[in-house]
Amino acid sequence: MTAAPARVTGYQNAFSALCDRRLVQSMYGECDVLLERVLLTLHGAAHAGRRAIEWKLFRRDFARYYESEVYPLTLSRTLAPYLKKGQVDLPEFGFRVNINLSADIAGIDRTAGSEEETDALVRLTRKFSEGATLFHSTRDKDTVREEVSAALAEFDHRFLAPSKRRREVTLNNIASGVAVEEDMPRDILSVLLANRDEQDLDDDMILREVAFFMQAGAHSSANALTHSFHEITQWCQTNPEDAERIKTDDAFLQQCLHESLRLHPASPVAWRKANEAFTLPDGTHVEADDNVLIDLMSANIETAIFGEDATSFNPHRVVADRIPAFGLTFGIGIHTCFGRDIAGGLGQGKEASQAPHYGTLTNLLKSLLQHHARLDPLNPPVADTATERANWGQYPLLIGAASTPQEIPID
Ligand code: HEM
Repeated sequence: MTAAPARVTGYQNAFSALCDRRLVQSMYGECDVLLERVLLTLHGAAHAGRRAIEWKLFRRDFARYYESEVYPLTLSRTLAPYLKKGQVDLPEFGFRVNINLSADIAGIDRTAGSEEETDALVRLTRKFSEGATLFHSTRDKDTVREEVSAALAEFDHRFLAPSKRRREVTLNNIASGVAVEEDMPRDILSVLLANRDEQDLDDDMILREVAFFMQAGAHSSANALTHSFHEITQWCQTNPEDAERIKTDDAFLQQCLHESLRLHPASPVAWRKANEAFTLPDGTHVEADDNVLIDLMSANIETAIFGEDATSFNPHRVVADRIPAFGLTFGIGIHTCFGRDIAGGLGQGKEASQAPHYGTLTNLLKSLLQHHARLDPLNPPVADTATERANWGQYPLLIGAASTPQEIPID
């Protein structure tokens, strides 16, 4: 029988554990076919080296640029067919709109620009997400692994190979002086190809890393969008004054989002393995190879940090400056999420001249509210039974039609 893992609870203990280099990522070993040696599962020098070259893409100017220049167009294009139908399934929509973000970041060209092409990317990336969260799957794990392998092969042939060829031509042109560094697209695939010898990256490794980024950019955001819409809807039923405020006050809408992110971390726990014997901050001794479960949920609802009503949704909550309103939902320390600023936003810039940056999720919520998205009384939401994580499988909404003065067209 496997010994029960040491359990790290509370905000400060979880924070320290996530920053501790003696604890190695261990929740993703179930699906090596997708996650072997990708950024999320690397450790030590290999992780630091990969993270350093990839992190350059995610400088804060990128989050601002993406939100103001690229995302509005993607959002209005993706929303248009749903507005025509008058219906939208929120997890599906969230995934679909963010697949473009994922592909832009990962470095997957969409040459056809067709609905069918997007459908294929969504289908394949959803399969990668199922692989990445296999630890919590309720399906037969071998079957899921086979499906992930098949999806990787299809993705490689149809999407990665042509995207790679285009970048390799540019790299050769740079080497021969015909092109300059700036001609290279700014994405993960370009970074990997430019560093493949130095980082010892073979074709399979590049395939896994790009596929991992595809799912990282879409999966958690789609779930977060659905949870936040649900929390906000419930809150507004009992707080009608805030129902008006969320339509006009973007900063308040972002607060609502952060509050929901706090209550719904992508995974309620993070698993690590000790790589040497040592004592955890709460005094628990662990031996080398012992499992350690970091309880993120307990950190996010600690009353000493978030108040007596920490288990409830309250967008007016005030927390100390040093504590992010979303708690540890984007992780912290060694594996801190690359997409935190893009998805969650940064709020008002330090300089008055800077436009506030609210992040893709607040923007998504804003446009759903502007288009009067509301629960479909004939189709109640359904929980996702394919995972032990508390996510929504389907969340059908009616959208459009009811026109109020607050509604602003997005295109
Ligand atoms: C609401 C949205 C999101 C949530 C809640 C979320 C959450 C997380 C968490 C908790 C981790 C750390 C896992 C651990 O410590 O074991 C993580 C890592 C990561 N996330 Fe996100 N994420 C979100 C969106 C995104 C987006 C949009 C991207 C875009 C590329 C992204 C890329 C990554 C990457 C690359 C890592 C691995 C970092 C590393 O291992 O060094 N995430 N995310």
